[in-house]
Amino acid sequence: MAKQQVIVPDIGADAAEVIEWMVQVGDEVAVDDSLLVLESDKASMEVPSTLAGTVVELLVKIGDSLTEGAAIIVVETAHSAPEPAQLTEETVEAVQAETPVQAEAQEAVAEVPDNQTVSIGKHSVLVPDIGTDDAVEVIELSVSVGDEVLEGDTLLVLESDKASMEIPADASGKVLEIAVVIGASLKQGDLIGVLEVADNRSAPQTSVQEPKLDVPEVMSPAPAEPKAAAVASAPVAEPKTASSSSDVVYAGPAVRKLAREFSIPLEQVSGSGPRGRVLKEDLHIFVEQRLAKPESERVSSGAGIPTVPAVDFSQFGPVREEALSKIGKVTATNMQRSWLNVPHVTQYDDADVTDLEAFRVSLKDDAARRGTKLTPLPFLLKACAVALKDNPKFNSSLSPDSESVIYKEYVHIGFAVDTPAGLLVPVIRDVDKKGLWELAEEVLELAALARDKKLKPAQMQGACFTISSLGALGGKGFTPIVNAPEVGILGVSKSSVQPVWDGSGFAPRTMLPLCLSYDHRVINGADGGRFMNQVVDLLSDIRRLTL
Ligand code: COA
Repeated sequence: MAKQQVIVPDIGADAAEVIEWMVQVGDEVAVDDSLLVLESDKASMEVPSTLAGTVVELLVKIGDSLTEGAAIIVVETAHSAPEPAQLTEETVEAVQAETPVQAEAQEAVAEVPDNQTVSIGKHSVLVPDIGTDDAVEVIELSVSVGDEVLEGDTLLVLESDKASMEIPADASGKVLEIAVVIGASLKQGDLIGVLEVADNRSAPQTSVQEPKLDVPEVMSPAPAEPKAAAVASAPVAEPKTASSSSDVVYAGPAVRKLAREFSIPLEQVSGSGPRGRVLKEDLHIFVEQRLAKPESERVSSGAGIPTVPAVDFSQFGPVREEALSKIGKVTATNMQRSWLNVPHVTQYDDADVTDLEAFRVSLKDDAARRGTKLTPLPFLLKACAVALKDNPKFNSSLSPDSESVIYKEYVHIGFAVDTPAGLLVPVIRDVDKKGLWELAEEVLELAALARDKKLKPAQMQGACFTISSLGALGGKGFTPIVNAPEVGILGVSKSSVQPVWDGSGFAPRTMLPLCLSYDHRVINGADGGRFMNQVVDLLSDIRRLTL
C-alpha cells in the first residue's frame, strides 16, 4: 500500500476554482475517473484521476483557486510509488503522455486554417481549436439569422461526452447564415456560419479563439450567466434532431449529460451551486420530486416515455445495490437510445458451415505455429465485409436530419467483446482488405485489450456494422440491437450438427444460426433478405470468399 497525490494537470488557464467534488473520502477511484470540477472564467473541466485506489484525503475545498501542479487528493494505491514530492512535474507529464489526443490536438493548433473572408463585408466563422480531433456535437444554438453579435458573444455550444464548450464569435456583425443544426457533429475548421461585418478589417485572420484547452476530453466553459441576455434574446434555431436545448442553463457537461440520459429538462431544474449552477444533486432532487407526485400529475418526460415506477424492493426481501460500472452506464444509454430510435427488424437463417469448420479445424496446427487462434469469427468478418460491399445500404448511416443516407466507402466492422467490466466493441478497420490470419490476429489482440481495459477510444470508433458472436456461449438465436448510427448488426449463435434434407435423405450438417437486425428506415426486408442470403452462401461455400 502507498499513499500518493493526484495533482492538477495542465488546465489551459492560470487558475481555476473548485466548484464541485465528484468523489469523497473512502471512494474507490480508477484511473480516468473524474475527481472534481474546476472552473476558470472561460472553462469548466473535470479533472481525472491519474491513480487507482481508495481516496483517503481531500486536500482542497469548494471555492479554492487551483493552479497546475496543485495537489488535489491523496489516494491509497495497491503498489508503492515515488515520494509525493517527486510527483508534481512527473505526474503532469504522465497525464499528458497518457492522453495521446493531446499531442494531436496540439498539432492541430498549428494546422488551424485561417478564417476566410468570403467577400468584402462577409466573414466565415469556423470551429476553433476545441482540444480534440474528434467530432463534437452541437447541443445549443445561441443565435439565429439576423442577430447582431459582438466579438466574444456565444454562437453555439458544443459538447462531447466529457466536455462542453461555448464557441464565441470571432468578429462583430450580423448573422447572415448559420451552417449547422442542433445534433450536427463538428470538428475544428468546420464552418459554423457567416457574419456580415461592418468593416472587413474587423474579421480576424485566424480562427483560433478562446477557449483553447490543452487537456483533451476536458470540458470547457459553460458559464452561460454572462451571456444570458444575448442568448435569451436569440431564439434557438429549429432543432432538427431530438437533442434538447437547455437555453441559458448554467451546468457542466457531466450534469448536462446526465440530464440528457434521463430526459430531464435542465431549464426546469433549480441550481443550488455557485451562481445558480445546476449540480448533480439538483437533478436527483428534481427526479425525486417528480416521482413523489402521483402518476396523473407527472409531466411526461421529453421523449414522452412513461417512467417505470420506483419500487422499494427491500419491502419484499433483502436486497443489495451495486453501482453500474462506467461501461455499464454507457452501454445502457446506447442500448436505450438505439432501441428507441431505430425501428428494428430481425431476420433469422442458418448457414451450413460443415466445410468451413472442416477447413478451420485443419488449420489449427498452422494457427498454433503462428501463435494465433482461428475461430469462426474471422470468417464471419470476411463474409460480412463482402456482403457490405455488395449491399451498400448496410454500409451506410442515416444523416442526423434523417433527410439523406450517407454511404461509406470503407468497411470497418466492430465486434462485441464480453469483458468483466461490461460490453465493449472494438473495431477492425478495412476488413475487406485483410486476410483471415490478419483478422484472427486482430480479433485476439483487440479482445485482449478490451478485457484489460486498454482499448483506446480510436479503436472503438468508426464501425460501419457490428458482429455480436455469442456462439461460444450457446443459444439458438437472439435479437441483436443495432448499434446506431450503424444500420445493421449480425448476431451469431452456437453451431450444432443437424439433420439436413439434401434432396434424397437427411445428412448430418454443421449449421450456424445467424440473426440479422437492421434499421427499417434505411433497409427494407428485401435488402435484408439479400444481405443474409449472401452471408449464408459465403459461409456455406467459403471458396466464394476468395472471389
Ligand atoms: N458456434 C460454435 N462454437 C463457436 C462459435 C459458434 N458460433 N463461435 C466460437 N466458437 C468456439 C470457438 O471456435 C472456440 O472453440 P475452439 O477453441 O475449439 O476453436 C470457442 O468457441 C471459444 O471462442 P472465443 O475464444 O470466444 O473466440 P471467438 O473468436 O469466437 O469470439 C469474442 C471472440 C471476443 C467475440 C468472444 O470472446 C466474446 O466476447 N463474445 C461475446 C460477445 C457478446 O457478449 N455479445 C453480446 C452483445 S449484447
